[in-house]
Amino acid sequence: LNLPFRHNFLCGQIYPPLIDGNEIHRTSNYDLRDDDVILVTYPKSGTLWVQQILKCLYEKNGVCKDSRISSRNNLPQAVPWIELLDIEEFNAMTSPRVMTTHETYNNIAWRPGTGAKYIYLSRNPRDVAVSYYHHISGYRAYEYDEALPQFVELFTKGKLPYGSWFAHTLDYIENLNNMNIFYLDYESLHLNFEKIVMKLNRFLGLRHLSNEDLESIKERCSFTRMKVDSNANMSRFEHRRKPNSADFLRKGHVGDWENHLTKEECSSLDRVLDSYFSKTTKKFIYNL
Ligand code: PPS
Repeated sequence: LNLPFRHNFLCGQIYPPLIDGNEIHRTSNYDLRDDDVILVTYPKSGTLWVQQILKCLYEKNGVCKDSRISSRNNLPQAVPWIELLDIEEFNAMTSPRVMTTHETYNNIAWRPGTGAKYIYLSRNPRDVAVSYYHHISGYRAYEYDEALPQFVELFTKGKLPYGSWFAHTLDYIENLNNMNIFYLDYESLHLNFEKIVMKLNRFLGLRHLSNEDLESIKERCSFTRMKVDSNANMSRFEHRRKPNSADFLRKGHVGDWENHLTKEECSSLDRVLDSYFSKTTKKFIYNL
């Protein structure tokens, strides 16, 4: 593939370049357990935010002290990416395994009838495009130096790691009834944090949360707190980033696209959206 950034290509799918010895694994045939929990996102949808919420919820629950989510402090370790785990590591994890993936619906570890629970997080594609641009421009390994307009073109064509935002999101939305899945969006999380966290807690079958629990989770998951929390702000991977690149926790706003995208870029994103989404499926994407 002739792409303007370094990448990996595995079974017809674009993946990020290998960093610090990481390997990407094909995980669709990994064996699931009924108490597995898998957070699924297209990159830059607020994954880290929901990983932090999950960590707080399992810690409040007070059981499963041996599981990775309780025993590891750093988020990428506590709620690991399945595609970065080899099969031995995956099988050796103590239950409940709470994990993350950016995989597409067709490539995800999933079987009909599994008790495993999924959480799908989506975000307005305009904000995802802007955030993804800063991400790929900021990481040395991508060796990417084009400007935002060129990036938006790649985004509309889906020529990015984990493919098209449009296909990724639509495939999961169309399969919400097949999977044991909790759907949420970044924008609603901003608006109704407590309500969504309580619903998620119920979906996971965890112990009831008191108002004090909710208050403290809200504080620990706030953008300002996560930005200075070395277990949550990805600062330990600072060496992977170019000098003067934006922080991983860059802005954390809804609607930052207004500061970056032209009218024409928005229209071209809208055209692709219309070619994929119907009126009904569009309703899942907040504010469109
Ligand atoms: S990744 O690389 O795919 O795992 O990135 P991901 O975590 O999905 O997305 C990063 C964006 O999520 C924002 N973020 C938050 N927003 C609000 N509150 C909290 N607590 C929070 N944590 C992460 C982060 O700032 C990135 O968005 P942008 O728009 O670039 O700021």
